[in-house]
Amino acid sequence: MAFPDRFLWGAATAAHQVEGDNISSDFWALEHATGSPFAEPSGAACDHYRLFRQDIAMLAELGLNSYRFTIEWARVEPEDGFVSRAALAHYREVLEACQAAGLTPVVTLHHFSSPHWLTRLGGWEYEGTPERFAAYCRTVMTELGDLIPYVCTINEANIGRVIRRIMASAGAVADRRKAMEQAPVGLDGRPEGAEPAGQDSVHAGDQAPDMTGVFLFSFSDAAFDVITDAHVLARKAVREVSPQTRVGLTLALQDVQALPGGEKGAEEAWAELFEDFLPALDGDDFLGVQNYSRIRVGPDGTAPVPDDAEVTQMGYEFYPQALGNVLRRATAAGLPLMVTENGIATDDDSRRVEFIRQALAGVERCLADGVDVRGYLHWTALDNFEWMAGYRPRFGLIAVDRATQRRTVKDSARFLGGIARRNALD
Ligand code: BGC
Repeated sequence: MAFPDRFLWGAATAAHQVEGDNISSDFWALEHATGSPFAEPSGAACDHYRLFRQDIAMLAELGLNSYRFTIEWARVEPEDGFVSRAALAHYREVLEACQAAGLTPVVTLHHFSSPHWLTRLGGWEYEGTPERFAAYCRTVMTELGDLIPYVCTINEANIGRVIRRIMASAGAVADRRKAMEQAPVGLDGRPEGAEPAGQDSVHAGDQAPDMTGVFLFSFSDAAFDVITDAHVLARKAVREVSPQTRVGLTLALQDVQALPGGEKGAEEAWAELFEDFLPALDGDDFLGVQNYSRIRVGPDGTAPVPDDAEVTQMGYEFYPQALGNVLRRATAAGLPLMVTENGIATDDDSRRVEFIRQALAGVERCLADGVDVRGYLHWTALDNFEWMAGYRPRFGLIAVDRATQRRTVKDSARFLGGIARRNALD
């Protein structure tokens, strides 16, 4: 079966993970704090801020027709109220490069990192953050909206809920610091550390403070309200200044499966990850679905990965069937769906090929059953900075030698590109 005309085939990145030198961000500060939980700092990352033209051209040459990337708040507004015209001009060049290469841009306005100054105000637990975020979105969309057909306001607005669940299943809620130290790696589905810091901030060289509350990963009730309000206000701002742009947010949606006795727990997990967010999505144009694996919920909570399962570099199960399952469940949002992330961390690229093959077979079956899926954006274009895990996990379609910044296309990239060119699996 062929995929629908104008199906988006692409790769996704996030600014902080690829651009390099994101020095005005909260993450940069935390990476450089003494006792930082990060395996290593992001540093120059993939130097994508400078090399974006070559990277975009590579994606187009592979046969892809879409590129998801972030317009980084910490660059556009590095100080509270100061808008960097240079940063806006840069992102106009990125958008123009996409247009010239025939890639439909899907822009993310917030992908985990925030301006450092926001943490001084209380970050994602501060009641004024929705207005600040909406003002930044208004600025970006006023200046660049003419080149932006799709915008995701907030990446994984439910990431705090995902993390809370992982920590609870590790029995570690009472001791976040310990959980963080024991965490396998990364952010999606992994513990992160630290108690809310209130008005505190962090500077390079400081002792890493407890600052969960200031990050998007906070899972307090206050943070839930701040994050969902931020999305609603941002959507309003986008609509006002760039009415032709389609707007949505993205959610991290694990395939939640019930083991015997875990039915109620599984229902609760899905409600936390998905259903609680539905009121905020009301009025969106699409939902970005991000999926990496499944979780199985038993009578005692999330069950460990089965002993005989293949496990990825992130410690979770190789389970590409999850994507189709999650897309079907996500239809409950009543919105067109776009796969804004799906991928696997592995050094064995043949497993990435297999992962893509199986995940897309699931998407194809969903389409055949009438599920409205508009695109598949693979995570990720380049081997990049996987948050607390540093550069060790490799999610990229394209390898990056960070000493030279040389790119090497992997077989999985050609495989996905071939599917995109044919608009069909075989
Ligand atoms: C995030 C990415 C991250 C990926 C792989 C997603 O949760 O949006 O930033 O790199 O998962 O862990």
